[in-house]
Amino acid sequence: MDTDSFANSGQEFPGEPNADLALAGQPDDLGRPSGAQVGSGITRREFVGAAVAGPVVLAAGPLLADAPSPAVDRHTGGRKPHGEPQSDVRLVVNGQEHRLRLDHRVTLLDALRERLGLPGTKKGCDHGQCGACTVLVDGRRVNACLTLAVSVSDLPITTIEGLAEGEELHPVQAAFIRHDGFQCGYCTPGQICSAVGLLREGYAKTDEEIRELMSGNICRCGAYPNIVAAIREVLGAK
Ligand code: FES
Ligand code: FES
Repeated sequence: MDTDSFANSGQEFPGEPNADLALAGQPDDLGRPSGAQVGSGITRREFVGAAVAGPVVLAAGPLLADAPSPAVDRHTGGRKPHGEPQSDVRLVVNGQEHRLRLDHRVTLLDALRERLGLPGTKKGCDHGQCGACTVLVDGRRVNACLTLAVSVSDLPITTIEGLAEGEELHPVQAAFIRHDGFQCGYCTPGQICSAVGLLREGYAKTDEEIRELMSGNICRCGAYPNIVAAIREVLGAK
């Protein structure tokens, strides 16, 4: 019998253990042929078929019985990834009180921008490296991207939107304008908030100290000389 007639006869080719193994020769994820035995004398195909069909354990029962229970995710402790845990948070931003229910993982930066509609605070790196997100919490400068909103509940928070007194700019804002302390302006809200915090701290007396104590705020445009000049002016006026 030639090959075609043999194939049409419905008989298995000699040497083929099972003509149903149409994928024989194609390896599985572990590089085994699809007909490879998985243990207890059953093929992988039979094992998978049984698993899909339902709780029929077949001869692999002892293997499944020994399988460890699913590991609990160590990051979530088994809780749902979203929606829990949450807390009621009272954010007092620029003198205005906001009551929010927030996931504990929400940063102050995202709460300000996404929940309170205050986009003046910028998100640069979101990793505590650029200072674009600097705000004042209880008068001290912090990176809002590294601060959980729940941790500053009830504390007074000042953002760039809250520095001016009505139409009158904060002295640092005015000095930045006078000294052209920005180009694209993306880092500027963080620079100004940081400068306000620096002046309040009272440690900087010289240009070198201003540079050192402003080193957490990066300006990709390189407006540093003008930023230092603006801060020096306000420092000298104190
Ligand atoms: Fe927070 Fe860069 S966005 S430090
Ligand atoms: Fe452009 Fe500072 S003004 S990043």
